[in-house]
Amino acid sequence: MEVRPPEVSLYQSYMRSLALCYGTRPQIVKASVLLEALRSRWPVTAVDTGQHYDYELNGLLYQQLGIPKPDHFLEVGSNTPVRQTADVMVRTAEILRATRPAAVIVIGDTNSTLGCALAANKEGIPVVHVEAGLRASEPDLPEEANRRVVDALARLLCVPCESAGARLRAERAQGAIALTGDVARDVLIRHLRVVPPRASDTPFALATAHRAALTSDRAALAALLAGLGAIGLPVRMPLHPRTRLALERYGLLDAVPDSVRLEPPLGYLDMLAAVRDAAIVITDSGGVQREAYWLGTPCVTVRSETEWEETVAIGANALLPAVASREELPALVDQQRRRRAAALWEADIYGDGNAATQVADAVGGLLD
Ligand code: UD1
Repeated sequence: MEVRPPEVSLYQSYMRSLALCYGTRPQIVKASVLLEALRSRWPVTAVDTGQHYDYELNGLLYQQLGIPKPDHFLEVGSNTPVRQTADVMVRTAEILRATRPAAVIVIGDTNSTLGCALAANKEGIPVVHVEAGLRASEPDLPEEANRRVVDALARLLCVPCESAGARLRAERAQGAIALTGDVARDVLIRHLRVVPPRASDTPFALATAHRAALTSDRAALAALLAGLGAIGLPVRMPLHPRTRLALERYGLLDAVPDSVRLEPPLGYLDMLAAVRDAAIVITDSGGVQREAYWLGTPCVTVRSETEWEETVAIGANALLPAVASREELPALVDQQRRRRAAALWEADIYGDGNAATQVADAVGGLLD
């Protein structure tokens, strides 16, 4: 579905246009609803940095979610974190200088988020951070530095849940805080009815892994594979390109247990179907953790902590450091499946699916 910007006078368009910046798979998903909500009120320049460029991580999502083509595709691609962030910043700044939006909206905690927020800040344009206020304490987590810097720069901090807002207040954040809920839930609710039906009744586990903590650590990745082989369920494991490279680099393709089926990355709809239909989700992805929580599928998160701590507090999710997964994953999988069988959790902690409108309302407040 193509969403056109409303007709506006030249004056209005100069004063009140916005820029929405995104660049990785989960950000493209969230941009789908944000673009629509924002474009119903203002002209919006859509900027895709091109941090993710493979068809499965980019073009397929545009197709499946009916996202209009971006106004600018920056083609930054893969590089060292410094080069990638610098390219995002320089190329975004050129666009901002030419378009002078009234605010720049960034999402999440990737290098694209950081580069775009820095570009806006250096150009003197207010930054709006969607998914603000999340924190982790893992040393060297690349996303942590990104989100802290972006939160420090932002004039408007759109938080997905109460705890994120409370944290920003405790940190004495400079920007205004708006409790909007999580736009990822909006996207899920909107597309659930077009998700493919269940293909088979055979129980299976769904596993994903993409973070540096796993893909840069041979022992951790090997332990996870061994753990997956011991849970007593067939495992579907769609692979992020980075994880496939890591398996090849570490010579671990031969260590993949017979019960684990490696697959190419799934599009948004097929991924939702897999999360919905799985008996258990095992992941290091924040997005997949929340999708499991919303769809009522029990989850084990292969990390020592999660930014989505509420999912753990209510029992929908359990944490397991990757190195311990060889021994402990089977018991934790059983525990999570039993918990889920005993009771279903309440699913509104991160909002009720109306977050994009709330973000647009908050942006309106910033512009007034
Ligand atoms: C990035 C984000 C992470 C987010 C994830 C969502 C940072 C620091 N990390 O991680 O927070 O959770 O996106 O998926 O920004 N590659 C391809 N094709 C692509 C993209 C990447 O083959 O289209 C490979 C390249 O080898 C690349 C590697 O994946 O070097 C890592 O990609 P990158 O964008 O740097 O980080 P992600 O791991 O995707």
